[in-house]
Amino acid sequence: MRLIGKTALITGAARGIGRAFAEAYVREGARVAIADINLAAAEKTAAEIGPNAIAVHLDVTNQVSIDTAVTETVNRLGHIDILINNAALFEAAPIADITRASYDKLFAVNVSGTLFTLQAVARHMIARGKGGKIINMASQAGRRGESLVAVYCATKAAVISLTQSAGLNLIAHGINVNAIAPGVVDGDHWDGVDAYFAKLEGLKPGEKKKQVGAAVPFGRMGTAADLTGMAIFLATPEAVYIVAQTYNVDGGNWMS
Ligand SMILES: NC(=O)c1ccc[n+]([C@@H]2O[C@H](COP(=O)([O-])OP(=O)(O)OC[C@H]3O[C@@H](n4cnc5c(N)ncnc54)[C@H](O)[C@@H]3O)[C@@H](O)[C@H]2O)c1
Repeated sequence: MRLIGKTALITGAARGIGRAFAEAYVREGARVAIADINLAAAEKTAAEIGPNAIAVHLDVTNQVSIDTAVTETVNRLGHIDILINNAALFEAAPIADITRASYDKLFAVNVSGTLFTLQAVARHMIARGKGGKIINMASQAGRRGESLVAVYCATKAAVISLTQSAGLNLIAHGINVNAIAPGVVDGDHWDGVDAYFAKLEGLKPGEKKKQVGAAVPFGRMGTAADLTGMAIFLATPEAVYIVAQTYNVDGGNWMS
């Protein structure tokens, strides 16, 4: 029960890694807002997690929606101690086929969404005067470019950079901003990635997953559960001296 009495807003938590974080936080004693663009899915997830989870509608690309979701979470949970900026989109294409629409969409969710949700929650935390913990979801894709994944990689590199700047700026208010960089995590998201590579590289469905899993030094793809320990730790008082860092939780894929 390392998060007893704490409250958390987790974006994109209706499914996947965000949902696993919400479940883990509730197990540790926190109350959690499942904030997602898909309100019906967020409501179902919150109901399955139990009375310590609430569903909140949030489109991180829309400033009114961000402000409304933060206000609703504060009204219903009392305050926000922890933010996990987890919502993101993935698309893949060779450089010659990237569209402005795809670029704008991915940057709107993965970069602007992360920054302006962080800003809205940071304003609340500063006004409250009790500090806080903000965790951004980066990726190994932010560590180096990939031939068919230019835009997503660039968005995740931007998340690492924003984590550094926000971490340096907000520690003066007792707010720790850090990030987690997962490697390849099985689930709905990677079903979509696998489908992109099936199309772009002529692979059989499931083949890309097998390839990336076999290439992980640990010997398999990650699961959402593999990430929850870091998400809990970064939200505890033990992490108070950790500022502006991005931690790889990827089975050994990347070292930095
Ligand atoms: N799965 C992986 O292999 C992997 C690897 C590295 C990093 N990550 C990162 O981890 C995070 C979670 O990934 P996941 O695999 O659980 O993804 P996912 O696609 O399963 O879930 C993303 C969630 O975000 C929500 N969402 C999408 N657009 C939104 C918007 N505009 N506003 C609010 N919510 C929105 C979706 O409805 C969904 O519930 C992402 O930031 C992702 O980039 C994932």
